Amino acid sequence: MTPIQSCIKEKRTTTNPIWLMRQAGRYLPEFRKIRAENPNFIELCLNEKLSNEITLQPIRRFDFDAAIIFSDILMVPFGFGQSVKFEKNFGPRLGEINLDQIINFDEKKFTEKLKPIYSLISSLRNNKITSNKDVIGFVGAPWTILVYVINKISPKKSLREDFFKDKSLINKLLVIITKFVKVHINNQIKAGATLIQIFDSWAGLLERDHDIEKFIYNPTQEIVKYTKDLNIPVICFPRGIKNYKRFCSLVEPDMINIDYDVDPRQMVEDLSIPIQGGLDPNILLSNKENLKKNVLRYLNIFNDHPYVFNLGHGILPQTQIEMVEQLIHIVRNFK
Ligand code: CP3
Repeated sequence: MTPIQSCIKEKRTTTNPIWLMRQAGRYLPEFRKIRAENPNFIELCLNEKLSNEITLQPIRRFDFDAAIIFSDILMVPFGFGQSVKFEKNFGPRLGEINLDQIINFDEKKFTEKLKPIYSLISSLRNNKITSNKDVIGFVGAPWTILVYVINKISPKKSLREDFFKDKSLINKLLVIITKFVKVHINNQIKAGATLIQIFDSWAGLLERDHDIEKFIYNPTQEIVKYTKDLNIPVICFPRGIKNYKRFCSLVEPDMINIDYDVDPRQMVEDLSIPIQGGLDPNILLSNKENLKKNVLRYLNIFNDHPYVFNLGHGILPQTQIEMVEQLIHIVRNFK
C-alpha cells in the first residue's frame, strides 16, 4: 500500500508521510528554468513530457512520499471553454462567460482537451520513481472554481459586492462546474491517480451559514461521495473555513488538510479522521532553529493521530532548498 493510503486505511501512526502543496513549482531552480522557456502556462500543463518532468523534480530532489501532478485547478474552466491565461507577476486572468456555450459543452470534448493530464498520470504510475508512492490527482472545489469563473482574477481578501448579483447565473454555473469537476476526477482515477485532493482555497471568503452550506458543504459532499464510490480516498482542503469539525461531519472526507490559522491541538480533539498539513509556509522563510521548533510542535501534537506532514497552504516561491531539506530531515527522524 502507498504511504498516504496506509495512513488513511490502516490509521497508521508509526510514520508520518510527507509531501508539500505546490511542491512542483517556483522555489525549484529546475522548474524556473523550464518555466522561463515556456511562457504559456496552460500549454506547459498540457505538455505531457514537461509536466512529467516537473512533477518528478521534487521527488528526485527530496524523495517525497507522494507526487502531486503538475497541473492547475483552472484547467477545469479551460476545459469547458472559458479562456484562461496566466500573466507574469499577476496570476490567472479568465475570459468572458458564455453561458450557452458552457451549458452545451460536450463532456467528451472536455476530456479530449485535457487528455495530456490523464496521460501524465498514467506515465507516472508506470514510472519506477513513483511506483511505491501516491500519485495525487486534484481538483478545485466547485466554490473556488466558481470564484475564479465569475471574478475572473484572484480575489483579494473579500469578494466584490456585486459577486452574487446574478443569482440565476451563479446557480447554473455551480451545477455545470460540479459536473465537470466530477468528469475530471473520474478521468484522473481511470488514468491511475491513487488519491484525490480537493482544493477549496477560497472557502474562507464565505461567512453566512446559508452560503457555506450551499456553496461549500453541499457541492463538496457530492464530490467526496462521488470519489469514494470510485474507491479512491479523498483529501479536502477547505482553507480558512471556520468550523473544521462541522465540515468533516457533513462532508465526510477520508482525510482533512488543515490551514495554518487553526490551532492543531484543537483539531486533534475535534477530528477523528486522519489529518494532513497545518504548518505556516512562512516558517520555511525563517531560520532552521525556528523551523525545528515549529515542525516538532506539529509532530508532537499529532503523535498518536494518523498524520501526513504538509503545510497549511502552498510552499512559497522564496523558500530556500536548504530549509526544505531540513524540514524533511526533521520529519523523517522523528519516530
Ligand atoms: O502542488 C503542486 O505542486 C501541483 C501543481 C499545482 C499548481 N497549482 C501549479 C501552479 C496545484 C495543486 C495548484 C493548485 C491551485 N492553482 C490552487 C489551489 C491551491 C492554492 O494555492 O490555493 C489555486 C487557487 C490555483 C490557481 C492559480 N494557479 C493561481 C492563483 C496562480 C498564480 C499565483 C500562484 O500561486 O502561483 C497559479 C499559477 C500556478 N499554478 C503556478 C504553479 C507552479 C505558478 C506558475 C508560474 O507563474 O510559474
